[in-house]
Amino acid sequence: MSMDTKRLDNILKKMTEVVEKSQEEILLISEQAEKEYAALEEELVQTKLLVNQYIAKSNELEKKVRASRRQLSEVSKRFDIHSEETIRRVYEKTHQLQTEYAVVQREEKALRQKRDDLERRLIQLSKTIERANNLGRKVSIISSFLQDDFHEVNELVKSAQEKQQIGLKIIEAQEKERKRISREIHDGPAQSLANILIRSEIVDLAFRDGDTEQALTEMKSIRESIRQALREVRRIIYDLRPMALDDLGLFPTIKKHISSISEYNNIDIDLALHGDERRLDPHYEVAVFRIIQEGLQNAIKHAKASRIIVRLEIRDNLIALNIEDDGIGFDPENINKKDSYGLIGMKERVDLLDGELTIKSEPNRGTKIVVKLPYKIPVESERNV
Ligand SMILES: Nc1ncnc2c1ncn2[C@@H]1O[C@H](COP(=O)(O)OP(=O)(O)OP(=O)(O)O)[C@@H](O)[C@H]1O
Ligand SMILES: [Mg+2]
Repeated sequence: MSMDTKRLDNILKKMTEVVEKSQEEILLISEQAEKEYAALEEELVQTKLLVNQYIAKSNELEKKVRASRRQLSEVSKRFDIHSEETIRRVYEKTHQLQTEYAVVQREEKALRQKRDDLERRLIQLSKTIERANNLGRKVSIISSFLQDDFHEVNELVKSAQEKQQIGLKIIEAQEKERKRISREIHDGPAQSLANILIRSEIVDLAFRDGDTEQALTEMKSIRESIRQALREVRRIIYDLRPMALDDLGLFPTIKKHISSISEYNNIDIDLALHGDERRLDPHYEVAVFRIIQEGLQNAIKHAKASRIIVRLEIRDNLIALNIEDDGIGFDPENINKKDSYGLIGMKERVDLLDGELTIKSEPNRGTKIVVKLPYKIPVESERNV
């Protein structure tokens, strides 16, 4: 993992921690509020019961007070028949009832107030609970955003960095390819030309000396050198870009290539071409040819294979290609060679065309390269690659 993704990971971890802590706190608040709500609700039920009891009590007392007052007014009107003692008793009873009534009324009022207070607090609390729950939901959205979407961002950064690495590898591969071509020209045609130059001087000398025989022999050798230089130049040009691909198309070029390298390396190569032999978009023709070329080169260079099978099928909207050898195999997950660009280039070509590349290989069990390219261009397009 590189510095950037590490830093991003750290930030992400801290943010996730803070959010998780907030989530816990919100949960605590909402739990406490719910507990308090339940307690208050219970208190409200009890208070309402008491209010009802006090209302009944107060109604009863009111009736009693009224009756007692009536009685008092009657006895006080008729003090001729009632003794002072009776009047005083009725008076005291009325007074006591009135006092009791006043107390009960006060208490009833207090209880009603308490009931109203409780109801108000319950409304406030239920709002608090709702707010805490809302907040909890929002925080959990943030948390899942951090866990999923942000991880995706992290993945994107990682894959961008990997792409950058692949880009650098491609530049290195191009550099390696240029080096190879310059070495080939230097060792091949350039040597031959230098050789021809020396020989032509010999011819020159031989003519001056009148030795026609030697001059003719040298001329013959010069012709051979020129032929060889030509062959090498042609091969280098072919390696750069097989012109047959543009002139003849994919199937004939593959057939030609396979027969020439099978002969040159003295190895059996089975070729099976299926499907429509129409011309494909040049990007696809070049990609398929280069993948076959690299796959065969690897099978010959590394696999010690005795047999190679190439299968290509062109369907309406799919190109399927397999290259299989029976050689020593390798671990495709573990290629750390500094100077290896072939498989990377293969993968890059396939990726550019939105295809799939699978390498199945195990030590001593051969190698199979499977390529699937969705073919997206239905009609012949401009050939400009
Ligand atoms: N068919 C195969 N059989 C056995 N080993 C293979 C095969 N193809 C690839 N390898 C192993 O995988 C390595 C990487 O292959 P790759 O084509 O990327 O690089 P290379 O052939 O070493 O160099 P380059 O292709 O750049 O000239 C090879 O060096 C070889 O060890
Ligand atoms: Mg290779």
